[in-house]
Amino acid sequence: MSKQIRIFDTTLRDGEQSPGCSMNLSEKIEVARQLETLGVDIIEAGFAIASPGDAAAIATIANTVKNSTVCSLARCVEKDIDVAYSSVKDAVDPRIHVFLATSPVHMEYKLKMKPEEVLESVAHHVAYTTKLLSNVEFSAEDATRSDWDFLCRVVDVAIKNGATTINIPDTTGYLTPDEYANLIRYIREHVDGTENIILSCHNHNDLGMGVANSLAGIQAGIGQVECTINGIGERAGNASLEEIVMALKTRKDFFDADTRIDTTQIYRSSRMIQTITGVPVAPTKPIVGANAFAHESGIHQHGVLNNKSTYEIMTPESVGIPQNAIVLGKHSGRHAFEARLKDLGYTLSKEKIDKAFAKFKVLADKKKVIKDRDLEALIGVVPVSG
Ligand code: KIV
Ligand code: ZN
Repeated sequence: MSKQIRIFDTTLRDGEQSPGCSMNLSEKIEVARQLETLGVDIIEAGFAIASPGDAAAIATIANTVKNSTVCSLARCVEKDIDVAYSSVKDAVDPRIHVFLATSPVHMEYKLKMKPEEVLESVAHHVAYTTKLLSNVEFSAEDATRSDWDFLCRVVDVAIKNGATTINIPDTTGYLTPDEYANLIRYIREHVDGTENIILSCHNHNDLGMGVANSLAGIQAGIGQVECTINGIGERAGNASLEEIVMALKTRKDFFDADTRIDTTQIYRSSRMIQTITGVPVAPTKPIVGANAFAHESGIHQHGVLNNKSTYEIMTPESVGIPQNAIVLGKHSGRHAFEARLKDLGYTLSKEKIDKAFAKFKVLADKKKVIKDRDLEALIGVVPVSG
């Protein structure tokens, strides 16, 4: 049987920490509803202690969403955990996600704590959280720049004190996929009880490897992936939900893993985040970018017009995009030119097509994209525009 991967969406928490991406209460609720429709397993709705507004948004989402777990982040601080609990407690399946850094640089310069103090704090705060609810996640912040044996001791303490999900974040997007997979295997081999909890990944994209590291983690035994819509998040962002989900679906033969995501809701979710945050995705962004299913060169257009699978490894419909786009430009060939004219309702003689195609090539050298109106001008059915 295929492995089931839980999708933990942190668009409303880590994603919102992206400069310029903060959302108001009604926007957060709209996004949470869409994430539920999309089929994410866990919605990290915010960081309750961060602001009263965030706490109120989490509480409203906890009362609204019925088919996803609703989670709040909390530091290893009792007050944080109490406020997180007040915010999520009414959810159908509430979760608190506590975190503490484990790397030398974070312990020395940020926490000003000795490794033994970190171990004690993790034990105390995870146990404290499990007294409030049973669904407890612990994250070892900056896990990937931590000493592996110390990290294993921290994970062991978190499991022994009741954490049911253990997250191994690549907080600074530092590792390569092989290294990340090796770290996950090392933890599974050196810590007792990892088979009874869910191991999770949370990979940032500083070197552009967030998605690759997450997929490597899945191959090494990860059962939950933390990600965001459009990959929004701190600095270069988080691993992108749509890329991970479609990689698993398109390469099911390789990963043998499933998610609960309704992939036809992906494009709608992406558009919603772009509209609400005002942050557009690049045209070349995989899955949801404007060019992800667009074809400009003649050879590609010819192939796709005969059979889409020549240049498309997934269908636009499978991610909720109505159809692919044949973009006419200087690389386009006669085949696509004629097909577009036919789509517009013009069936011309070979002689007329030849003439119009020659004019098209001249125009295409001057304009990046040839629009339908330009085509109509070329065949003389509308006046040439300036
Ligand atoms: O990047 C990170 O380490 C985090 C943690 C709080 C999980 O966002
Ligand atoms: Zn993060």
